[in-house]
Amino acid sequence: MHSTILILVLATASGLAKALPAADASLLTDRSSYDGIVNNSCILAPESPKDNYVSGSPMKTDITSGQSGLPFTLDVAVMDVNSCEPVATMVEVWSSNARGDHGNFLRGATSSSQNGIAEFQTIFPGWSDGDGANHVNIAVHSTSDISSPTIHVGKLYFTDRWTDLIGKTSPYNENSNSRILNEDDPDFKDALAEGYSPVISIAPIEDDWVEGIVGIITVGVRL
Ligand SMILES: *[C@@H]1O[C@H](CO)[C@@H](O)[C@H](O)[C@H]1NC(C)=O
Repeated sequence: MHSTILILVLATASGLAKALPAADASLLTDRSSYDGIVNNSCILAPESPKDNYVSGSPMKTDITSGQSGLPFTLDVAVMDVNSCEPVATMVEVWSSNARGDHGNFLRGATSSSQNGIAEFQTIFPGWSDGDGANHVNIAVHSTSDISSPTIHVGKLYFTDRWTDLIGKTSPYNENSNSRILNEDDPDFKDALAEGYSPVISIAPIEDDWVEGIVGIITVGVRL
């Protein structure tokens, strides 16, 4: 944990009772994060449909784009399932906003670097009609060059409990789309193949989750 997190908490705490403010990009550059793969299960992540994808992901790690919602640091840990070692690749992520809308926001690409971790600053997403359970979409390229072929497309999920909890807060409680639970989403079921779990491990960044969360998930790919 870095001391800058405290600044973030102090800066946002006053607004939490009413509404979660848009995350301030200048405060998000030195957040806590994982410096390597935590879950070493060496399992190929099943493929998911490339839904709601907009080509040309901007190269950036803070993809918040002024969207309001719970600050969410997402660490995608990419593992080569041939060697069971972390691998440097280009990772794209995209998601809907707290109200479940998709648009030219909450999307970007960054390299997973040598330790396998591609870290993004975003917000916890909201659920959309006809788009399954609450999730973040990812695409992984064969190298750290964005123009290299896409070798994996996946959907990363949350426990229903996290979506329940965060969904009760503003602005998520203004989301009028119908919630679908993980077990009712066929893409979630498909992502459970071969013993893989597409559920992101979540921890609060500070003492409580209302101040923001950090999540990590290992994504096994075949180069
Ligand atoms: C580690 O990853 C495996 C494979 O995805 C999964 O089944 C398991 O639940 C994960 N363990 C933890 C503690 O998240």
